[in-house]
Amino acid sequence: MADLSVELCGIKLDNPVIPASGTFGFGAEFAELYDINVLGTFSFKGTTRQPRFGNPTPRIAECPAGMLNSVGLQNPGVEHVIAEELPRMKTYFCKPVMANVSGFSVEDYAYTCALLDAQDQIGWIELNVSCPNVHGGGMSFGTDPEAAAGVVRAVKAITKKPIIVKLSPNVTDIVAVALACEKAGADGISLINTLLGMRIDLKTRRPVLANNTGGLSGPAVFPVALRMVWQVAHAVDIPVVGMGGVSSADDMIEMMLAGATAVEVGAANLVDPYACRDIINELPETMRKYKIEKLSDIIKGANSWEKTL
Ligand code: SIN
Repeated sequence: MADLSVELCGIKLDNPVIPASGTFGFGAEFAELYDINVLGTFSFKGTTRQPRFGNPTPRIAECPAGMLNSVGLQNPGVEHVIAEELPRMKTYFCKPVMANVSGFSVEDYAYTCALLDAQDQIGWIELNVSCPNVHGGGMSFGTDPEAAAGVVRAVKAITKKPIIVKLSPNVTDIVAVALACEKAGADGISLINTLLGMRIDLKTRRPVLANNTGGLSGPAVFPVALRMVWQVAHAVDIPVVGMGGVSSADDMIEMMLAGATAVEVGAANLVDPYACRDIINELPETMRKYKIEKLSDIIKGANSWEKTL
């Protein structure tokens, strides 16, 4: 029988399929459609210290093979998440969940992470230093190796759970940021967040998004994500969670061959709410097709041409 299990920072996952933050809420709407306990885990809605209303609308723009979003970290705030969302989540999800945390200062990140670290349900904290849609926070930490490392150091000093740092692709040297985070104590790296992009409405001659720019996700970004996962996985000694345009079991396998221990699925959930369930169901047959018995055996298994020629 095909073995889909992987281990992420010391915690076993039944399979490596993880709905990405911002595309799965806190899971409740999806749990009405199927038993989400089939997932490896999921990364819940990016949470900040204070509740956030998010950016003005329009916040979404469609693109060929993808979409732009500029949500602006809309969320109910960490206290509400702990008081309301996590107890509710217990009724439909019984595995450790991944908490995704954003902030506007090092103190914000530390405050929010400390509160979430104390919650039994949470297995990992995904430290989002890569939101491209807010000013003075998010991506401004993740585009500077020292700033990213500063957040990681502050959070590691007051947490016990594995800290997975979610990186921005909007940099010239993603490996430098990943290495700085690893050196600061990160337990894992996840990548990529969205690529900064823009559309203009030809009739109004105004940007489609009220925030002018937004983050591109979907199949269009898959080759960029794969390249960055490959580069980072070959540079660090901590696990890498790959994401960016993954929408099939074939894509999952490609990401794992590039170096991903687990794989997040984002925009595909917005196209088809059953996307993650279907990928999990397709994986055994896809593994058979490529003669894979144990999925964890293929992590970083792609040979570069130098090695094969
Ligand atoms: C957003 O809320 O604007 C998207 C979150 C992210 O890209 O990190």
